[in-house]
Amino acid sequence: MGAVNTTELKDPSIRRSLALFRAFLREQDDPDTCYALLARDAADQVERYGGPLAGRTVADVGGGSGHFTAEFRRRGAHAHLFEPDVRELGAAPPRGTVIADGYLLPLSDGVTDVTFSSNVLEHVADPQTFLSELVRVTRPGGLIYVSFTNWLSPWGGHEWAPWHYLGAERARARYRRRTGRDAKHTLGENLFPVHVGTTLRQVRARDDVRVVAARSRYWPFLAQAVVKAPGLREIATWNLLLILRRCPS
Ligand SMILES: C[S@@+](CC[C@H](N)C(=O)[O-])C[C@H]1O[C@@H](n2cnc3c(N)ncnc32)[C@H](O)[C@@H]1O
Repeated sequence: MGAVNTTELKDPSIRRSLALFRAFLREQDDPDTCYALLARDAADQVERYGGPLAGRTVADVGGGSGHFTAEFRRRGAHAHLFEPDVRELGAAPPRGTVIADGYLLPLSDGVTDVTFSSNVLEHVADPQTFLSELVRVTRPGGLIYVSFTNWLSPWGGHEWAPWHYLGAERARARYRRRTGRDAKHTLGENLFPVHVGTTLRQVRARDDVRVVAARSRYWPFLAQAVVKAPGLREIATWNLLLILRRCPS
């Protein structure tokens, strides 16, 4: 698959969503191309809401193998990867990677311009505490990018989706039967049911952040509108993107 220049892809647009979807379908065969595209797309989103990344200090929390950190650095940011699981790092993590849990980041208060966390919130048991730590390390006026796949999304069950609609245990058992191997995710251990409505209410109730945007991360149209429809949003949002600005203390 050739590299797609995301600056030509309007967000939201059908072209962009299709490019991301096609890359995602090839994730197993060609993870580098898939994640490089996703990283360029996310960096474009960060720059749209927060201005150029060049010269900014960025923490990529739960960043896996570091594709996002690499892209932020390509754009001139001082980006650092914080990842608790060495198995997620891959063969060549970015230099200076820190093995650290997002609940307790080895950072002083207010040191980052941008704190970035892609698809981690649904993997932590206490999303509110996790979010508080992201806020703590962000400077007043800084940006917090948080996205997660909500539980009732068609992809909510991850590798055992969409069978999670019939129950997590059933979906996991089906995955084992079909593939002959255990699923990576177990509900209540490393995957938790996080909902759009509850999360929005929780972030809006905070006095240390302002919600700049709440939208579907990947949707080709109505990306903001879909998040405003109670009930429907739990299925249709697919993946919630929150852009938060840290309030002055
Ligand atoms: C689905 S992967 C997402 C990786 C990458 N951020 C991305 O969007 O491709 C979930 C990541 O969350 C990390 N994670 C789980 N619990 C965490 C915690 N308490 N603090 C920080 N990261 C955590 C996992 O190790 C894993 O790398």
